[in-house]
Amino acid sequence: MKDILEKLEQRRGEARLGGGQTRINAQHGRGKLTARERIELLMDKGSFEEFDMFVEHRSIDFGMEKTKIPGDGVVTGWGTVNGRTVFVFAKDFTVFGGSLSDTHAQKIVKIQDMALKARAPIIGLFDAGGARIQEGVAALGGYGEVFRRNVLASGVIPQISVIMGPCAGGDVYSPAMTDFIFMVKDTSYMFVTGPDVVKTVTNEVVTAEELGGASVHATKSSICDGAFDNDVETLLQMRRLIDFLPSSCGVGVPEWPSFDDIGRDDMSLDTLIPDNPNKPYDIKELVLKTMDEGDFFEISETFARNIVTGFGRIGGRTIGVVANQPMVLAGVLDSDASRKAARFVRFCDAFDIPIVTFVDVPGFLPGTAQEQGGLIKHGAKLLFAYSQATVPLVTVITRKAFGGAYDVMASKHIGADLNYAWPTAQIAVMGAKGAVEIIFRADIGDAAKIAARTKEYEDRFLSPFVAAERGYIDDVIMPHATRRRIARALAMLRGKKVELPARKHDNLPV
Ligand code: HXC
Repeated sequence: MKDILEKLEQRRGEARLGGGQTRINAQHGRGKLTARERIELLMDKGSFEEFDMFVEHRSIDFGMEKTKIPGDGVVTGWGTVNGRTVFVFAKDFTVFGGSLSDTHAQKIVKIQDMALKARAPIIGLFDAGGARIQEGVAALGGYGEVFRRNVLASGVIPQISVIMGPCAGGDVYSPAMTDFIFMVKDTSYMFVTGPDVVKTVTNEVVTAEELGGASVHATKSSICDGAFDNDVETLLQMRRLIDFLPSSCGVGVPEWPSFDDIGRDDMSLDTLIPDNPNKPYDIKELVLKTMDEGDFFEISETFARNIVTGFGRIGGRTIGVVANQPMVLAGVLDSDASRKAARFVRFCDAFDIPIVTFVDVPGFLPGTAQEQGGLIKHGAKLLFAYSQATVPLVTVITRKAFGGAYDVMASKHIGADLNYAWPTAQIAVMGAKGAVEIIFRADIGDAAKIAARTKEYEDRFLSPFVAAERGYIDDVIMPHATRRRIARALAMLRGKKVELPARKHDNLPV
């Protein structure tokens, strides 16, 4: 009996070594942790239970039958993050470069099926060279099985992808269909085809970082929702994110103890808006001062910075925040901002996370670049996402809410439940200058008349009261009371239930 037990321990020990000590050292030499070290950091101490550590590939081509490594390049299992169940798979770069074989895919599929059945989030840690080239179509088939399950699980359980090394070829499409992608700065990159293929096909010479590093995907392509300095920081941030997320749709948001009084007033907010309406201010100050303990997990922080999206809590319960950022492009809505916010709103709605929207928007961005880039369709995505949302929607207009952007930014008309405005709000079709130049075109050239018309327009329209008189704004609130009013609104809306008409699915303007 003792021998048998020892044999098990020996086999486990071999499996835990993956591709061997030399490759582990090489992994460390590149500033990267191994798959198992990453899982240890991600999960609560001692909670990880590994499955399929003895699985080996069955390939017999190109001499592969002589190189079998237990685990076959991916570590899979489940554990807990702050006590809540989470499934995980982590590509092991030390084994065939983490490449995906038929059996490697079956291990991931098993975990995906379990996560879906158990209604718990799944996290994939990527560090891999794509399809196992020696396996040919068996590897491609394996990817297809993984992709299909990503789609089946979408909107049912949160799916998170973390890119911690190369992520090439077939490996990119599974992350692309998950809810969030995070990357490690400098040591990770993502592309469909690498620099060598790019050079062959297009003659373009480009580095891996220029083609698909975190600096590209977190700022330009919008593929990545956040980039962190190293493996440890990234995994700790993933633990933080998981704490904000529901385990699945239909179970409600997690609730954590909070020591921040929901009735807390913040007097400094009464002077947040500058006297000059064209002067910027940082909307994140409002966001942080409204959340419990100022804790805010920003999503896509460095992409389309004219809109801020992320998770916070009020009264210990998760909310999604969408906020125009006057510090960047005056907070205007452009194609990128619309896409970014639309995707975030849809995530929140799928997982029953109430959305708080802070509005200070001068309109949609004019210009040929925007129009030719599909501003109409991208703007429609955000309009569609909010209009379709059935979660509690609370909106606070702090300053400008002009034109179509007023409607889009969770207005009463598209389904928001409670719409508040600060006394500094200006809700109108457009700003005074543009409006006067159109409706009093005959007076242009007469400075005195234009000044009088402008004042008349400002007095009549650039306030919250025209909208409030119509009931489009439920109340004009004091800035310092914003947290308290939102908390009360969310408490009142806890039981919100809205049924949409039956259909197969909608047709979001993708
Ligand atoms: C089999 C692979 C492999 C792969 C890497 N390895 N990728 N084995 N299939 N796809 C092996 C290497 O042979 C090597 O083994 C070990 O992993 C480490 O790789 P290195 O090249 O030494 O590491 P590095 O220099 O860091 O380069 C990493 C890399 C590179 C950039 C990922 O390995 C690479 O370009 N791999 C191929 C990427 C690729 O084209 N994949 C197929 C994409 S097509 P030894 O024993 O020598 O150490 C695809 C189609 C699917 O995925 C589409 C589905 C929709």
